[in-house]
Amino acid sequence: MSPPDEAETQLIERLVRRDERAFNELVRAHQGRVFGLVLRMLGNRAEAEDVTQEVFVQVFKAIGSFRGESKLSTTIGLIGAGHIGNQVARLAVANGYEVVISNSRGPRARAGTALDAAKAGDIVVVTVPLKNYRAIPVEPLAGKIVIDTNNYCPQRDGHIPEIDDESTTTSELLQRHLPTSKVVKGFNHIYAADLTTHGQPAGSKNRRALVIAGDDKEAKATVTHWLDQFGFDTVDAGPLSEGWRI
Ligand SMILES: NC(=O)c1ccc[n+]([C@@H]2O[C@H](COP(=O)([O-])OP(=O)(O)OC[C@H]3O[C@@H](n4cnc5c(N)ncnc54)[C@H](OP(=O)(O)O)[C@@H]3O)[C@@H](O)[C@H]2O)c1
Repeated sequence: MSPPDEAETQLIERLVRRDERAFNELVRAHQGRVFGLVLRMLGNRAEAEDVTQEVFVQVFKAIGSFRGESKLSTTIGLIGAGHIGNQVARLAVANGYEVVISNSRGPRARAGTALDAAKAGDIVVVTVPLKNYRAIPVEPLAGKIVIDTNNYCPQRDGHIPEIDDESTTTSELLQRHLPTSKVVKGFNHIYAADLTTHGQPAGSKNRRALVIAGDDKEAKATVTHWLDQFGFDTVDAGPLSEGWRI
């Protein structure tokens, strides 16, 4: 994830000290972008204004727990704009992230192409039917955290012999396709609509946990932090080879 520059580091420090002028600077710098994104997603100006205001209120409330390791404007790329992609996009926008979302039909249908989402995202969620994983752009995802929501569904994806004979897992296939990305399996065992309705604040009784798997510890720590922001605890199932359990 890209670190903040000097000016942004100072702004973050002032925000953490609850400097009101810093908050106004933050709103001035980011409100156009946040509003534009929310409007594109909701298609309604009044609702988009409300959501934008709410985003900044939430940012101000949560700024004390911002770790300052990434830019304030961390971008989440979504390759796939279906059930899961849409819900993750909503969660990300509500939590103050920028989002570039794509489907297979390109910018006329949505905000960007898969290539745009892959290039723009600091974290990229691949949420397409598994049969299409080879179409995911490789080079722009080099070194990035890639969250893989894909499940194997032979009726939809056709038979994949290495999965049928249990010699590999779905996320290992994606990792092989994206050799230098840090693939973390996640969001696989939650019904899409529950993503925006089942989240609860940290520490809540019976808070729902989502299982992840991955070979890179730091990437898993980032995804764990991200899921916590979205309202979920995390259970680590181990490396990608254990991902079939999820
Ligand atoms: N639905 C759930 O509750 C759920 C839960 C857990 C896991 N999953 C898994 O998550 C994955 C996505 O599920 P979903 O239900 O969100 O699927 P979905 O509703 O069918 O949406 C798939 C999305 O991927 C896009 N897409 C397909 N090929 C693409 C490509 N080459 N480049 C860019 N975008 C592409 C599609 O765009 P077009 O419309 O243009 O084709 C569509 O926006 C699947 O592997 C599924 O098994 C789903």
